[in-house]
Formats: sequence, C-alpha cells, structure tokens
Amino acid sequence: MTWKALVHLYKEGYVRAIGVSNFQIHHLKQVIEDTGVVPAVNQVEYHPELAQKELLAFTRENNIQLEAWSPLMQGKLDHPVLTQLAAKYGKSPAQIVLRWDIQNGVVTIPKSVTEHRIRENANIFDFELSTDDIALVDSLNENKRIGPDPDHVTF
Ligand SMILES: NC(=O)c1ccc[n+]([C@@H]2O[C@H](COP(=O)([O-])OP(=O)(O)OC[C@H]3O[C@@H](n4cnc5c(N)ncnc54)[C@H](OP(=O)(O)O)[C@@H]3O)[C@@H](O)[C@H]2O)c1
Repeated sequence: MTWKALVHLYKEGYVRAIGVSNFQIHHLKQVIEDTGVVPAVNQVEYHPELAQKELLAFTRENNIQLEAWSPLMQGKLDHPVLTQLAAKYGKSPAQIVLRWDIQNGVVTIPKSVTEHRIRENANIFDFELSTDDIALVDSLNENKRIGPDPDHVTF
C-alpha cells in the first residue's frame, strides 16, 4: 500500500516527513496500527461549515498537523456571523476564517488568483479572535462538505 512505500522512504532517510490527505480518524488509526508510523500531516476539507471537531482533537492528541483545504468554502463567505465579526475586527470575512484556522492550530492553504486577495489572506497576524468569537465561528458547523466524503468516495 502507498503508506508503506512512504514509510520505507521515511525510514531510509530519503524524506524527512510523510503525510496523508482526506483521512478520517479510523483511517489514521489503521495506518498507525499497521506501520507504527504517525503521519506528520493530514490535509482535509476544513472550514466553518465543516469544523471536524473530533478529527481535530484526535490529530492534536497524536501530534498530527491538521491542514485545511478549501478553507474559504471556495469563496462563499457571505454568512452574517462572518460579516459581523469582520466589521468588529476591521478585517474581511476571509481573514476571520483564516485567523480561526490559525488559532485552532490548523495550517491553512487558501487559494486565490487575485493579487489583493493573496495579500489579504496573508495579513492575519496582527489581530486575535476572542475565545467567545472562536466559539461563535465553531458554532457555524453544519458538517457540510464541498468535496466528497472520504468514507463514500469511489477511487
Ligand atoms: N487534498 C485535497 O483533496 C484537496 C481538495 C480540494 C482542494 N485542495 C487544495 O486546497 C486549496 C484551496 O482550496 P480551494 O481552491 O478549493 O478553496 P478555497 O481556498 O476555500 O477558495 C478559493 C476561492 O476563494 C476565493 N477567494 C480567495 N481569497 C478570497 C478572499 N480573501 N475573499 C473572497 N474570496 C476569496 C478565490 O477567488 P479568486 O481566485 O478569484 O481570488 C477562489 O474562488 C487548493 O490549493 C487546492 O489544491 C485539496
């Protein structure tokens, strides 16, 4: 299996870190149990409407870095709570979401082809969301996916 090939490269010193993508908790448990090697990173769909609380807790407990794909819900950021928080902090809804990622310890990879948005998305290190506002963004979770469910995808 692919993970075993990656483990071989890792153990031989050809690569310094190996990771996975779209793994659920049970997938992570299986590769750890099978090989004894813990993935360094798990890149998954993660945004306010899919907050993946249990997966985030599991990765934290096991020292796996969670990484968010489609962190900006592919640009659908017109939620009133995000607009309200954006006004409160003098930031954009995108910056609120990306800051929420960072404060939750999640690496985030927003994509943009627009220069001013690329700059905006990087400009999130001069403010901090309060604990209550982190919880407010957490409360937007609907377990709603943009992409396929890793448990029901046909490869
Ligand atoms: N591992 C996987 O299975 C997987 C699956 C899907 C995606 N990914 C990766 O995840 C990364 C991001 O995902 P994504 O492109 O699907 O979604 P995304 O980053 O959530 O959203 C990208 C969209 O948001 C817009 N946007 C960017 N910054 C914005 C801002 N500040 N304000 C308003 N709109 C903004 C972009 O528009 P403009 O470009 O027009 O500015 C683009 O339409 C990609 O690099 C992709 O390769 C990985």
